[in-house]
Amino acid sequence: MTNIRTVLVIGSGAMGSQIAMVCANAGLTVTCTDLDQSALDRAESMLRARMDSTVAKGRMTAEQRDAAFERLTLTTDRDSAARTADLVIEAAVEKLVVKRSLFAELADLAPESAILASNSSSFVPSSMASAVTHPGRFCNIHFFNPALVMKCVEVVRGPETTDDTMVAATAFVEEIGKIPVVLEKEIPGFVANRILGAVRDEALHLLEGGYADVEAIDTACRTALGYPMGPFELMDLTGIDIGYLVKKQRFAESGDPKDQPADTVTRLVERGDLGRKTGRGWYIYSDSGEKQGINQL
Ligand SMILES: NC(=O)c1ccc[n+]([C@@H]2O[C@H](COP(=O)([O-])OP(=O)(O)OC[C@H]3O[C@@H](n4cnc5c(N)ncnc54)[C@H](O)[C@@H]3O)[C@@H](O)[C@H]2O)c1
Repeated sequence: MTNIRTVLVIGSGAMGSQIAMVCANAGLTVTCTDLDQSALDRAESMLRARMDSTVAKGRMTAEQRDAAFERLTLTTDRDSAARTADLVIEAAVEKLVVKRSLFAELADLAPESAILASNSSSFVPSSMASAVTHPGRFCNIHFFNPALVMKCVEVVRGPETTDDTMVAATAFVEEIGKIPVVLEKEIPGFVANRILGAVRDEALHLLEGGYADVEAIDTACRTALGYPMGPFELMDLTGIDIGYLVKKQRFAESGDPKDQPADTVTRLVERGDLGRKTGRGWYIYSDSGEKQGINQL
């Protein structure tokens, strides 16, 4: 059992809503806030549908579901919740200026003993911790999408994060039934997304070098490496534009030509072939989502 009993989650979008529910399911008292009530209403109806389906599948009783919702408050009143929080997890929009100003305010509102954590996928702890007083209490606690399902949570130490913060954040992750992966030193992308990116870059290198086609590379990853789907299938699922924008951002920061998006990726994005969501990406899909063949580059 950790000292963390009361959690404040900032942002009720795809990640924040599910992180809050995971905490409530684990018996913690949780407040989830957003800028306006309509975002919170959307989050609540999505969570109710998901939890109803969990009950229908027999993975939780109706009483457990109801008790979890009793522990979860969705409100725009962020400040009252911040004053009593043991842990704040920020899952707001991925903009550094928004995150820094949120943390500057939260650091003043929350007790000095509270841990301040960001769920950001791309901003490392030091880029946000410098906005807060007592930065030793800051780290990233990085969940994966969908947070209700995915087991891995990366706990990322910044240069100023104290041992106490790391120990408490890691124990919290275990308490909510997730598997912590600790990064002792910050690096953009952390562990899982860096490995994923390295596999994707190699797949693109093999394709663009003419060594093998999209289907062959995906088949090798599935049948030799045991991946549930190949790197091109995964890019189609997550959206080819997402990886493209991450690369653009990284290139803007580093100026290193190897951080540029691959030529084939750029061509697809410029054509609007963004993956399953547009019906065309590396593959072509039918209206019902069936794969129909390789898209010509
Ligand atoms: N989507 C993913 O796959 C994923 C995975 C891991 C981590 N993340 C990280 O999680 C964070 C949120 O991503 P998301 O996909 O949930 O985004 P989202 O757009 O679905 O949700 C963001 C929410 O934050 C709210 N918000 C914006 N500014 C706010 C503020 N000042 N105060 C309170 N709420 C505010 C928005 O209204 C919105 O509801 C990002 O930092 C992202 O890097 C995302």
